[in-house]
Amino acid sequence: SLTLKEAYKNDFLIGTALSADQIGEKNRKEDSLIKKEFNAITAENIMKSMFMHPQKDKYDFTLSDKFVAYGKKNNMFVHGHTLIWHSQLAPWMEKIADSTEMKAFMQDHINTIVSKYKGKINSWDVVNEALNEDGTLRKSVFLNTLGEKYLVDAFKLAAKADPNVDLYYNDYNIEEPAKRAGAIALIKKIKAQGGKVDGVGIQGHWRLGSPSLEEIEKSILEYSALGIKVAFTELDITVLPNPWDLKGADVNQKFEGNPKMNPYPEKLPDSVQKKLADRYASIFKLFLKHKDKISRVTFWGVHDKQSWLNDWPIKGRTNYPLLFDTELKHKEAYNSVLELKSSK
Ligand code: G3I
Repeated sequence: SLTLKEAYKNDFLIGTALSADQIGEKNRKEDSLIKKEFNAITAENIMKSMFMHPQKDKYDFTLSDKFVAYGKKNNMFVHGHTLIWHSQLAPWMEKIADSTEMKAFMQDHINTIVSKYKGKINSWDVVNEALNEDGTLRKSVFLNTLGEKYLVDAFKLAAKADPNVDLYYNDYNIEEPAKRAGAIALIKKIKAQGGKVDGVGIQGHWRLGSPSLEEIEKSILEYSALGIKVAFTELDITVLPNPWDLKGADVNQKFEGNPKMNPYPEKLPDSVQKKLADRYASIFKLFLKHKDKISRVTFWGVHDKQSWLNDWPIKGRTNYPLLFDTELKHKEAYNSVLELKSSK
């Protein structure tokens, strides 16, 4: 039977985030699964600023070189994540205090990294998560020192360093109306000011019940109406309750120690397994409907054991957000995503 990347080969790329361990090819079984199922990769952590640019005058490309080489060797689309993001910065970057220093930083950082991988990286998240939930600009060391100008500057610098690489704005919850309106306004503004934006990355850290398919579809249509590509860049679906949704007496015990917050420590019940499979199927069905507008769908990790959702927003839970389980076996959700293609 076909694998994910084979089944969707004429539709869009099927990607995964990889950890530093996974590009080391140490676990044979895991490595062969990655190579069989996926044709696009994103580094889950190692291409973030704190790793690539630990000190002002020191870059460290040891792991990113390995990552890019892994992609090339396996004929994979290589996505760069991420150039300008308020999180996982090196400590020295947090201390940048004025516009002159920040300008110099952005120029050196973006130019050095993008030039280094010119022709080797297929697309970049130039700016990640610049928006608040209400669509306004998030406070960050970039906004504080340069004002909103840092956004167009980042895209201009990246295009200058590699005119052929695809440049993305990437964020979460930008399928929700208020934040989506903010993202659309932002992308329009960057383009109007002469920045090159080739695509939007909708992260896709989703839940069983939300966002609705209607909002996802509106997002695909509204973003692509800007003349840009739409990618789903960090897809996973949590099956666990959200502590912030608790009401009444439970509010006092939102996090650790509340057994309601970790309801499936050993095994996901069949009924929820089925819900997850149905949710994935309906999402991929929608993706297929708009495949001409979608460049890539990337999962945020290969299998459930690797997922960041086991540790967020509460540490040490057991979550089940991906298509492969902790033993690397196909889940029902994997089959439901593949069946969409075989039934045609
Ligand atoms: O490497 C250290 C390890 O040495 C230490 O023992 C351990 C103790 O907690 O921490 C390890 O670092 C962790 C790192 O992941 C590697 O596993 C950090 O604490 C942890 O904060 C970090 O989390 C990453 C997170 O970004 C940071 O914001 C997740 O793995 C990664 O999946 C997540 O990815 C982000 C995307 O980049 C942007 N969109 C949202 C997405 C999910 O948060």
